[in-house]
Amino acid sequence: MNMIAQKKHAPATDRNREPILTVLRDCLPDYGTILEIASGSGQHAIYFVTHMPGHYWLPSDPDKKSRDSISAWWWEVQLNNILPPLNINTRDDVWPVENIEIPQPVSAMVCINMIHISPWESTIGLMKGAARILPKGGILYLYGPYKTDSMHTAPSNELFDISLRSKNPQWGLRNLEDVIKLAGEHGLSLVKTVHMPANNLSVIFKSST
Ligand SMILES: C[S@@+](CC[C@H](N)C(=O)[O-])C[C@H]1O[C@@H](n2cnc3c(N)ncnc32)[C@H](O)[C@@H]1O
Repeated sequence: MNMIAQKKHAPATDRNREPILTVLRDCLPDYGTILEIASGSGQHAIYFVTHMPGHYWLPSDPDKKSRDSISAWWWEVQLNNILPPLNINTRDDVWPVENIEIPQPVSAMVCINMIHISPWESTIGLMKGAARILPKGGILYLYGPYKTDSMHTAPSNELFDISLRSKNPQWGLRNLEDVIKLAGEHGLSLVKTVHMPANNLSVIFKSST
C-alpha cells in the first residue's frame, strides 16, 4: 500500500489543533523531547512540531494502523525532529521509550483525547508512566472533555458520554477531580486547567519527583 493511502484523517484535529498549540506554547519546556501518547492519525504531531521547531516530537500509539498513518503524514513533511512512532500502550509496565536512545531526554508528555476513549486502567498506566519517565519539573499535558464534581459541564458532553458508554461501558468522560487525585498519587501536581473550545479542557501537571 502506498504511504498516502495509510494517512488517517481525524477532522477534530483541524478544529482543536490551534487552540491546543496556543496552550502548549505556554506550558511546554522550550527544550527536550515531547512524548505524545495516543497520537492517533499523527496530524497533531506534524502540526505541533512544524510550529514548535525547537523540540523533538516522539509520537506513539498502540494501534498499528495509527502508527502507519503517523509515518504516512511524516513522509509528506520529512521533518527530522519528528521521531518514528513507538508502540506505547499505557497499560504496559515498561514502555519502549524507556529502552531506546533518543536525541534529547523527554521533558514533557502530551495526551489528547485518550482518557475518555479507553478504560480507566489506561489513565492509571499513563500516570504511572509519567512518574517513571518525566524528570522533576517535567510537564504532563492532557486534553479532552471532563465532568467536574461528577456533573457534566454541557449537554453536548453528556450526550457524548452516553454515546461513548454505549460503544464500550468502560469508556466515558472522567471526573476531573479523580484524574487530579490519581496524578497526585504519582507525584504530579496540577499546574492549571484551561477552558478550551467545545467544552474541552487542557489539564496541565508538573512532576514534583
Ligand atoms: C480518539 S483517539 C485520539 C487520537 C489523537 N490524540 C487525536 O486527538 O486525534 C484515541 C487514541 O487512543 C489510543 N489509545 C487507546 N488506549 C490506549 C492506551 N492504553 N495507551 C495508549 N494509547 C491508547 C487509541 O489507539 C487511539 O489512537
